[in-house]
Amino acid sequence: MTTFAGKTALVIGAGQNIGRQVALEFVRRGARLAVADISLEGAEETAALIRKAGGEAVALACNVTDEVSVLAVIDSAEAALGPLDILMNNAGILSGGNPQDIPLSEWSRMFDVNLFGMVRANNVMVPRMIERGRGHIVNTASFAGLYPFAASRVHYAAAKAAVVSMSENLSLYLMPLGIKVSCLCPGPVMTTSTTGMKEFSENYVMRAPGSHLMVKSQQETARILADGMAAGRIIIPTHDEVWETLKQRAADPDAFIAKKNAEYLAGDPGKPGITQDVIDSIRD
Ligand SMILES: NC(=O)c1ccc[n+]([C@@H]2O[C@H](COP(=O)([O-])OP(=O)(O)OC[C@H]3O[C@@H](n4cnc5c(N)ncnc54)[C@H](O)[C@@H]3O)[C@@H](O)[C@H]2O)c1
Repeated sequence: MTTFAGKTALVIGAGQNIGRQVALEFVRRGARLAVADISLEGAEETAALIRKAGGEAVALACNVTDEVSVLAVIDSAEAALGPLDILMNNAGILSGGNPQDIPLSEWSRMFDVNLFGMVRANNVMVPRMIERGRGHIVNTASFAGLYPFAASRVHYAAAKAAVVSMSENLSLYLMPLGIKVSCLCPGPVMTTSTTGMKEFSENYVMRAPGSHLMVKSQQETARILADGMAAGRIIIPTHDEVWETLKQRAADPDAFIAKKNAEYLAGDPGKPGITQDVIDSIRD
């Protein structure tokens, strides 16, 4: 549990839900934190929870679509904590609809936040980490970026697939330079992320990653991430079932899509199961 002792970390997108729980988990494991979000109020709440738990945290405002804001937040975090050991790019947005109803402007917004937001932060942090010969970058993707099921949010899935590819290829380059890269790939996690989500179609069905999966709590997600980072893992999924799914997809990608469509037409949109404990965990 002391793997993160003495480490400094900045989590961008830590104003609520997964990012907040990850920040709390890093602190439990000994890290000092800067927590940033487009909602300064959310970041301040996270910092208050960290202090209440006996940890150290600074709260910062950051809009990942603004290069100046991203540079400022990294500079402020390093001024407060010293050189950053960990940068986690967790900010993300979600919207839904049938592909023909998603306008180019929404594709653009999706990529601007979910991919280029990370690129902006990494473009500042990677040269600093290379100079120091150490560091750990964590990018949050999604199961939607790992295999096809997200017909109701193709633009989101495409941005997350780009995050997976970016993370893997960055790790290929940075690992020999002493810098680790991890990519958190959440499957279904109990959060409030769909509240107020933009929807571009009427009467579309939100297709999900699979009815064989169970929704995980944010707290368990944070523990899985921290354990995976400590083990030096690059792709860190929340659910181990994904490895079998990826094998099936690799064995026959066309048959994989045909099977998904057959399941969907039979009335199974891939909605995961959920326990009362996980529903209750959102109030912790
Ligand atoms: N909940 C899930 O089941 C799930 C599944 C797959 C992937 N994810 C990914 O996990 C991450 C966290 O998701 P969550 O469920 O906790 O959702 P969330 O919406 O609560 O978290 C996203 C955070 O990013 C912040 N944010 C949004 N736009 C921003 C911007 N422009 N600049 C800075 N911050 C911004 C939000 O304020 C929020 O605090 C996201 O990247 C999401 O895509 C979640």
